[in-house]
Amino acid sequence: MLKKLTISAIAALSLGTGGALAAEGGGHVTNFQFPFEGPFGKYDQAQLQRGLQVFTELCSACHGIPRVPFRSLADPGGPSLSEEAMIQYTEQWEIFDPELEDWRTAKPTDHFPEGTDAQAPDLSLMAKARAGFHGPGGTGLNQLLNGMGGPEYIASYLLAFTDEWKEEAGSVYYENPVFSTGWSAMAPVLYGEDVEYADGAPNDRVSIAKDVSAFLMWTAEPKMMARKQAGFISVIFLTVLTVLLYLTNKRLWAPIKGRKKS
Ligand code: HEC
Repeated sequence: MLKKLTISAIAALSLGTGGALAAEGGGHVTNFQFPFEGPFGKYDQAQLQRGLQVFTELCSACHGIPRVPFRSLADPGGPSLSEEAMIQYTEQWEIFDPELEDWRTAKPTDHFPEGTDAQAPDLSLMAKARAGFHGPGGTGLNQLLNGMGGPEYIASYLLAFTDEWKEEAGSVYYENPVFSTGWSAMAPVLYGEDVEYADGAPNDRVSIAKDVSAFLMWTAEPKMMARKQAGFISVIFLTVLTVLLYLTNKRLWAPIKGRKKS
């Protein structure tokens, strides 16, 4: 549990949200561009830090990311907080310690806690659970070029809420054409300027939705940079090996191929 809930997260819980919600999602997933997509893509450290801030201030009121250890926020290739910043961030959190049977300040080795809203799913791996863009025969070719589609889904989902809501059997549902059933139990959260970024980056609805989606891609795939790098090294290695084998082959056959027919 975060020690202090931000005003904006609490505001998101209230009903009757006014008319500001244009449906940028438009009933389908928008192919937003992210810097980590494509074979040469990389996580943008500043964007991941902004996404962490959005998650902390707006989403963690309900959702958890319990697969993510606090210390990974300082790992290279991610938000890469400095060691001190990571510790300072971690100490904002209270964790329930089963050994103490009590709440205590979180330590870097702890994981983020579960969500506080039983209905709100774990978001640690959501960006992979909602992957799209598979390509012909589910080959994943499109994923190689356009990314996996999960962050596009999350951003589109966050932006697609209309102003409609309904009450059914004591629960409230909000219309969202991107969501599988069209009605989500989650209230719309983003209205624009919901967070104030220290780096002065734009904080309109679309930018905030993209930043938090990029962060959730990182929580789902924290080793993406290392994986791409290993991929490149293998491709280069295989290319060199191919050239060497070709030359060896030529050399071995040269005496036979060069022989005159008698
Ligand atoms: C007021 C509590 C609350 C807040 C705040 C909240 N969510 Fe949710 N969220 C929910 C609930 C409840 C569901 C489950 C919806 C359902 O299954 O009908 C959900 C579902 C989701 C889903 C899954 C959609 C799917 O396809 O299954 C995503 C992604 C998500 N939220 C992202 C976010 C992000 C990102 C934020 C912060 C910007 C956020 N949520 C803030 C309560 C919340």
